[in-house]
Amino acid sequence: MLPKIDPTTTNSWRKLVDHFKLEKDIHLKERFNNDPNRFQHFSHYFNDILFDFSKNRVSKDTMQLLSMLFDECKIQESIQQQFNGSTINATENRAVLHTALRNQSSNPVLFKGADVMPDVQHVLRKMQGFSGKIISGEWKGYVGKSITDIVNIGIGGSDLGPLMVYNALRPYHVNGIQCHFVSNIDGAHLAETLEPLNPKTTLFIIASKTFTTQETMTNANFARDWFLQSNAKSQDVSKHFVAVSTNRTKVKEFGIDPDNMFEFWDWVGGRYSLWSAIGLSLCCGLGYDTFNDLLSGAYDMDVHFRTQAFDKNIPLQMAALGIWYVNFHGAESEAILPYSQNLDRFAAYFQQGNMESNGKSVNRSGDEVSYQTGPVIWGEPGTNGQHAFYQLIHQGTRLIPCDFIGFVDSPYAMDDHQSKLLSNFFAQTEAMLKGKTKSEAMAELEAIGLSTEEISSLLPFKIFKGNIPTTSILAETLDPKTLGSLIACYEHKIFAQGVIWNIYSYDQWGVELGKQLAGQILPELQNSNPSEKHDSSTNGLINYYKKLKFRQ
Ligand code: F6P
Repeated sequence: MLPKIDPTTTNSWRKLVDHFKLEKDIHLKERFNNDPNRFQHFSHYFNDILFDFSKNRVSKDTMQLLSMLFDECKIQESIQQQFNGSTINATENRAVLHTALRNQSSNPVLFKGADVMPDVQHVLRKMQGFSGKIISGEWKGYVGKSITDIVNIGIGGSDLGPLMVYNALRPYHVNGIQCHFVSNIDGAHLAETLEPLNPKTTLFIIASKTFTTQETMTNANFARDWFLQSNAKSQDVSKHFVAVSTNRTKVKEFGIDPDNMFEFWDWVGGRYSLWSAIGLSLCCGLGYDTFNDLLSGAYDMDVHFRTQAFDKNIPLQMAALGIWYVNFHGAESEAILPYSQNLDRFAAYFQQGNMESNGKSVNRSGDEVSYQTGPVIWGEPGTNGQHAFYQLIHQGTRLIPCDFIGFVDSPYAMDDHQSKLLSNFFAQTEAMLKGKTKSEAMAELEAIGLSTEEISSLLPFKIFKGNIPTTSILAETLDPKTLGSLIACYEHKIFAQGVIWNIYSYDQWGVELGKQLAGQILPELQNSNPSEKHDSSTNGLINYYKKLKFRQ
């Protein structure tokens, strides 16, 4: 069981409240002026990845107090409980062992006294064997042709993880195999994906931990019908449909050969499942070795997280910075800004990872918390974001801490693009730090020859306050190992924050109510009788829908 400590009752929290009053008005520029080695003092290297925390609104004292907070909230004990397979997801009575899926050591990982590693390795070998046959063309469809297209049908963690990694590792795509990801219950998603595909050379991976999720099962059933309409027989389904799930019974009921089921386990949370057989599309579309490198990068970060003290522990420091902004500075959101087009789904992936994990208002004792928990996570790749929402970050009224992520080398031979991309990365973090003072703005306006009146009317709009906190993450190249380490780093950050906020980060009861109500509303949409049992707005919406749907 995880400890149940209200962080606001700790000595360190009280000290942080006082410390905040002392330091809240210190501008980042002043912090850099006062310490010429601030970069060295607040940055860390993990393999070739630089994590620069120096452009954050913290001093050594702040980090010291945050470190005390983490101690008082028993972070180390909590980390060990997670890795040791304790039932830390108490409301679902589950252990949380996605780290076992990427365990590269020969050490056993115990769950209820038994080592899970033999099962993990068995499934990995099965994934390796299967993806090898797909890639080599040995796996044939029902007319004897090799597979050219893979459609992963899943949603949430059974979609976003593989999709994000597949996009991130575009240069590693296997020639001749194209992966597609369908998640939405909006028929447009599946219809448009299937439109150019040939059923004779398409393989469907039905990815669902529960194998009951409405969106996934509806899309899977439609895909099977689409496949059968190509003159295939029901026995041909086994050559074109495989399942990734924990639910053997439901997989069989759907008609998928249990030999074509890739298992994972109850102790793998949906949004932490890309390391499991949910990564099967990645093995087929990127090659098993690439998937294995991803696992090994994550494992390196696991070892770091598990063994390093706070002052060297990168995920813990990222978690601490987030707590500092959310609970002391009152920040409501965090932006993740990858300066990498291939990371176009990274922010969306961690939107689920973070918001489904830490979007909680009840603590581990079942009481309402008296403080803020998980922030809104959002972001888009730079430089697109610069031409869209950065205005609000620079000159809006809200404090938005930003993570910048970039890579020195581009896999595409376009050096000019890469240096321009990175010049924007560096410039944005500098602009957010320094801003532009009144006198700097005035000097610029004078230099272009504006009159005194013109200058005084324009001046207020030309000032940037700066002091916007940023974390910069810069690595050599976006390779599978680096990506694995980065993902694991953010995962551990989320868990560590949940420990401090005294919440259960691995359940997601908040997604249930909408699902329940949709189940009740669906039958009402099948007939034209007016609906009266809801509030007036919901009745109004349903009845307007029916009026149009059943119009003559
Ligand atoms: O949105 C809730 C959720 O349970 C996620 O946590 C999960 O990733 C997703 O639904 C999909 O669930 P499943 O893999 O069981 O289809």
